[in-house]
Amino acid sequence: MSQSSSPEKTSLLEVDDLSVQFGGIKALDQVSFKVWPRSVCGLIGPNGAGKTTLVNCVSRIQPPTRGDIRLKGRSVLAHRQYEMAGMGVLRTFQNLASFAHLPVWHNVLIGAHCQGSSGYIAALFGSRQQRAEEKEIEARALLAMDRLSLTEHASTPVGQLPAGVQRRVEMARALAAGPRLLLLDEPAAGLTPGELEQLAQHIHRLRDEDGISVLLIEHNMNLVMNVCDELVVLDFGRVIAKGSPDEVREHPEVLRAYLGEPA
Ligand SMILES: Nc1ncnc2c1ncn2[C@@H]1O[C@H](COP(=O)(O)OP(=O)(O)O)[C@@H](O)[C@H]1O
Ligand SMILES: [Mg+2]
Repeated sequence: MSQSSSPEKTSLLEVDDLSVQFGGIKALDQVSFKVWPRSVCGLIGPNGAGKTTLVNCVSRIQPPTRGDIRLKGRSVLAHRQYEMAGMGVLRTFQNLASFAHLPVWHNVLIGAHCQGSSGYIAALFGSRQQRAEEKEIEARALLAMDRLSLTEHASTPVGQLPAGVQRRVEMARALAAGPRLLLLDEPAAGLTPGELEQLAQHIHRLRDEDGISVLLIEHNMNLVMNVCDELVVLDFGRVIAKGSPDEVREHPEVLRAYLGEPA
């Protein structure tokens, strides 16, 4: 649910005046918006609008040319890409990125291991602390598989599953790492209408039962309108509209840019 009406609440993610320049191309141009705790924010816009670049900035793959990105009020720009998972920022990729020959269970365990803290010596001697941690890791992976309805596929190699299920494996791997903010880059690409419906339900479960915020990049307007609490619309790297799905749906700039209709 949207919490933008409660100004005293701290945003989970704040993108502030963010710009990225690739040579002569302004991939992002002074982009500002907030994502609230326990909410789903949709990031939409035509191809080349800058959506993936923005997610790359938040996950610290792409350094911005200017501006700031804050997590619970603190800049993440001093942190490296590999530190972001530990700070609760997890993502999936536009192209499927699972280990196709490994079973679902192993793919999800890899995510759960991100949160492990036992050191090398503990691992060497198989300390009690380490065994307890292994149990915890397995429990997190089991829960993540359950949340994304993957339990029945646990031992199937990911490459043998339909695209819709493979997308859920990626989400489960990210979920097992304990995110506060999940960045999903076009998770609906190639899904059937039935799988789209399921995806919407799974995203709502992550928000409502796990208290996670989701930044969802998506082309499918039905899904976006259905699943998001708030929307940010990018066009040529600029924010041209933001607000509730109902507000954005009627926005003349959005009709022109996104749906190709005259303003
Ligand atoms: N690494 C890069 N080098 C140069 N140009 C890039 C790079 N990544 C993206 N771009 C350009 O930046 C713009 C935004 O791209 P992108 O973020 O992938 O858009 P979207 O995900 O909305 O389709 C496009 O014009 C794209 O060609
Ligand atoms: Mg993209």
